[in-house]
Amino acid sequence: MTWLVTGGAGYIGAHVVRAMVADGRQVVALDDLSTGAASRVDGAPLVVASVLDRAALDRTISEHGVTGVVHIAAKKQVGESVADPLLYYRENLTGLSTLLEATRDAGIDRFVFSSSAATYGLPDVDMVTEDTPAVPLSPYGETKLVGEWLMRDCATAFGLRSMALRYFNVAGAARPELGDPGVFNLVPMVFRALDAGERPQVFGGDYPTPDGTCVRDYVHVADIADAHLAAARALDDGAASATYNIGRGEGSSVLEVLDVIGDVTGRDTKPEIVDRRPGDPARVVAAVDRIRDGLGFSATRDLAEMVESAWAGWRRRHP
Ligand code: WQD
Repeated sequence: MTWLVTGGAGYIGAHVVRAMVADGRQVVALDDLSTGAASRVDGAPLVVASVLDRAALDRTISEHGVTGVVHIAAKKQVGESVADPLLYYRENLTGLSTLLEATRDAGIDRFVFSSSAATYGLPDVDMVTEDTPAVPLSPYGETKLVGEWLMRDCATAFGLRSMALRYFNVAGAARPELGDPGVFNLVPMVFRALDAGERPQVFGGDYPTPDGTCVRDYVHVADIADAHLAAARALDDGAASATYNIGRGEGSSVLEVLDVIGDVTGRDTKPEIVDRRPGDPARVVAAVDRIRDGLGFSATRDLAEMVESAWAGWRRRHP
């Protein structure tokens, strides 16, 4: 009864490994260390390999007696995917299909997949449900949606049971050393600006939202990890395939996030409002009823906990 966690040395994967180990599960992490770090993997063996390496997958599955897979290894930058779609299709979709071939041939039927709110594109609804039309706007979002289709087809063809988890805006860290090393999302970009003595930039102040700035559903990475645990448990208990949003069901505007960052860091976060960023939806907030009813999961950490823990991690990396 071992779970393979691909991308297990990355920001989200390391949190999932940690949560599964804490839950008493046998885990093996697999990561090519392109963005991950071996030091993040605690309490589980790490296989350094790519999900594109079929032989390494077969070896890992047989040596560790893998019975379920949590597939997190992927490229995840929207802008980069526009510039290099072939990279994203290879890493995210050829990677997925290689892994699915290996799991099928090993007779494994339990599969948890990292999907994304990027599958929805520009949702024109107050609360995004899993039935809101998925119209991704980037190659990144496309690879996640097509990945979900591929798993659905594998369910029909050979009985794969999969859980697609659509993450909303992930932030925070369970421990400072597990913080997000990237500077691509709002919270770390604001930290970077503060350290550089610059004003944080807000991309657009004229959106049709209460304060004119974009609204997102920020969710703590430790909650994301708990949701994976709930999905793995459900598959162990025989659950059928499903797709779930992982968010808090609560929106925060960019200005609200800046206020929390100001409170936590004690810095002046008065922003500079600049032009809109192309492709940014005004509001993306998850409906979370389905995951609550289906997996008994609800996020428990708030925005202040996300920002406090992210700041502790940032200070550790930027003393
Ligand atoms: C959040 C808000 C920005 C930086 C992306 C992907 C999504 C998912 C999460 C992977 C937006 C605003 C940001 C800044 C700003 N990724 N902002 N100033 O774009 O909501 O989601 O990451 O699955 O698929 O699209 O996240 O953190 O980039 O931005 O005003 O310096 O903060 O405009 O409204 P986003 P983000």
